[in-house]
Amino acid sequence: MKLKVITSNPGKVAEFQRMFGDLGIEMEHVKVPYDEVQTSDLEEVVRKGMDALRATGLRDFIIDDSGMFVDALKGFPGVYSAFVQKTVGNDGILTLMEGVEDRSATFKCCIGCDVDGETIIVTGECPGVILNEARGTEGFGYDPIFSPDGESSFAEIPLSEKNEISHRGNAVKLLRKELEARLRPTP
Ligand code: IMP
Repeated sequence: MKLKVITSNPGKVAEFQRMFGDLGIEMEHVKVPYDEVQTSDLEEVVRKGMDALRATGLRDFIIDDSGMFVDALKGFPGVYSAFVQKTVGNDGILTLMEGVEDRSATFKCCIGCDVDGETIIVTGECPGVILNEARGTEGFGYDPIFSPDGESSFAEIPLSEKNEISHRGNAVKLLRKELEARLRPTP
């Protein structure tokens, strides 16, 4: 099976290839711009993105969208995570969270996969808390201010450890199950 990974980030393609190579799935990097719908629901962004890509005739592809949802901010920055990170950044989130007692937040990653016109959508989550200050140098984005256990931030743990528990790691595990079931020969 060959799947096109629709992204501007070549790192994602390598990560998918590493996670699915043993199933005999070949990942191909394809850059196709598509409009992301305005909605607060990650799954809807992915579903609508898949519809838009399929309308161009594309088949056998993967898209994904992630975000950090802070409970006390009613899910913000959520689907706007990339924009908020680029503009106000981690300092902006820490300022919004000053004096806020409920620090709970969840990273979510939604992956949409088209297999010959069939839709598979999975969502992986990683619950945690927003720290009081940025810590660590690993990772990217909100990693320095997010902690899965209330102690170390995502930027303070090795990537391999983060992948074991992260929203993206959990979404990939769910997609593996779905694809494995489709690749298994029927008795
Ligand atoms: P994307 O959909 O994977 O590009 O993620 C959207 C935005 O969410 C990124 O630009 C980051 O700001 C944030 N984000 C997603 N996953 C992570 C993560 O694992 N750590 C930190 N920030 C993340």
